[in-house]
Amino acid sequence: MIWRQLSVVIFALPLALCATAEAIDEIEVERFCYPEQHKNSRKSCECNNEDSPPWGIRAINIDCSYKVLKTADFSEVLPLYVNTLDLSWNSMDEVPTLASDSLRVLNVMHNNITALTNKKFVKVSNLRELYLGWNSIQSIELSSFDELAHLQVLDLSHNNVHTLGLQLFHSLIILETLDLSWNRQLNQTEGIQEQDFYRSFGVNPKLKTLRMQACSLRDLVLPEKAPLVRLDLRRNMLEKIPNKLPITLEILDISANLFQQISPVITANLSSTLSELLVEDMPRLQSVEEKAFETMTGLKKISFQNSRRLTKFSGNAFGSDVGRFPELGTLIFRGTSIGAFNATLEPIFKQLTELDFNGVPLICDCELVWIKEVELETNGRCYNPSRLRGETLTNADKSDFSCPHWPHWVGGLLIFGLILICAAGIYVVVMCLRPNRGGVTLRRKVGSGSPYARVTIEPNRQENYY
Ligand SMILES: *[C@@H]1O[C@H](CO)[C@@H](O)[C@H](O)[C@H]1NC(C)=O
Ligand SMILES: *[C@@H]1O[C@H](CO)[C@@H](O)[C@H](O)[C@H]1NC(C)=O
Ligand SMILES: *[C@@H]1O[C@H](CO)[C@@H](O)[C@H](O)[C@H]1NC(C)=O
Ligand SMILES: *[C@@H]1O[C@H](CO)[C@@H](O)[C@H](O)[C@H]1NC(C)=O
Repeated sequence: MIWRQLSVVIFALPLALCATAEAIDEIEVERFCYPEQHKNSRKSCECNNEDSPPWGIRAINIDCSYKVLKTADFSEVLPLYVNTLDLSWNSMDEVPTLASDSLRVLNVMHNNITALTNKKFVKVSNLRELYLGWNSIQSIELSSFDELAHLQVLDLSHNNVHTLGLQLFHSLIILETLDLSWNRQLNQTEGIQEQDFYRSFGVNPKLKTLRMQACSLRDLVLPEKAPLVRLDLRRNMLEKIPNKLPITLEILDISANLFQQISPVITANLSSTLSELLVEDMPRLQSVEEKAFETMTGLKKISFQNSRRLTKFSGNAFGSDVGRFPELGTLIFRGTSIGAFNATLEPIFKQLTELDFNGVPLICDCELVWIKEVELETNGRCYNPSRLRGETLTNADKSDFSCPHWPHWVGGLLIFGLILICAAGIYVVVMCLRPNRGGVTLRRKVGSGSPYARVTIEPNRQENYY
């Protein structure tokens, strides 16, 4: 009996405690999500419960986006178990100071924040992801990210950051993703283009993803041994691939930079771990030279999409042994101006699973007839010769891919000859029709032996006697 009572107590107590905690929590959620003063107003947030799978621990996700909230509208203490808090698309001019042990994800994007001040996040030290993009952040105080020892994702993109303080990120010791894209004046940060970026700004050496789109960079120095996987340098002012890049890079985006050609000199330091290379929207790129990709034998995808001035793609861009690229599956030439591809590329093109020729002005002559062996839908169309213009590669017949039998100069010579003959003919005809035809013939033929030889007609002397 006693045992039974005891067991009831033992089992019931935690349950009761739990229930109380939950009740308190319920009140707190209620207070937070539907504060008295904003009850039924558009300023209340939406909260929902979620059992986060592996442990079944309660997790509350709070969505306060699009509520015209100001920083002052926010109370510091968040409900228990809050997991994510979305404050995006409001009118905050500062990140609110928050306190929660459970908060993992904080989204303050699309507000009106101009500065990050010290120690804003010390009471939400379990944050894993922090999104501060699409504000107008210009200054970041040096201790802004203190205590964020668990942060994995930091997004500062689409702001107005000019200067990164030395060792700014040093407390983010397990950071995996850093996004600084679209801070267009970031190049004003002292040393950002010449000195080791990681060492200068205290970036976690184990970072996996670094995004620096549109930061007006001409160069960047990263440690070669860093295990960086993905580097995004789109829309900067690079004229070559930075000399010092981690050798284990897998995805590199150098699109919309100022390269004029891709050549082995430029790509020498890219290694066989690289699997995806994006060279899109290049305003100046004209040619891909011999052996440009020779070192990158692990490539799976290359895209040249919309590099409109690109006209030349060397038949030996992959070096002479094309068997060294077993994994290459995707080549995107969409929107480039390459008319001709050398038949040496046939083995590579045949192994692809995706080949995109959309909008490419292909010259469908005998040099390109091999492309009919590639059994993929490329959306390619012929641009020249004019009799095939607009015809799809699929519909064009192999026999249409012909070249004239004689070189062009033979045709030119023939025409020239014809013109000469015509001219001579016209000359003859014109001469024949001239009215003083007799005179001409006469004069020519006048000579001593000619029947028309000059005859001197003298008056008959005898007649004079009369
Ligand atoms: C953003 O802040 C500026 C001044 O810091 C202010 O002039 C502007 O009205 C604010 N915009 C919004 C949408 O609150
Ligand atoms: C930063 O880039 C801009 C062009 O976007 C340029 O005018 C400026 O001189 C650069 N500043 C430095 C310090 O490199
Ligand atoms: C490749 O890396 C080495 C070692 O860092 C460097 O000396 C060299 O200049 C780099 N080459 C190119 C073409 O960037
Ligand atoms: C194709 O490549 C081969 C080998 O490099 C070369 O000899 C040939 O001239 C190239 N053909 C054209 C049309 O460029």
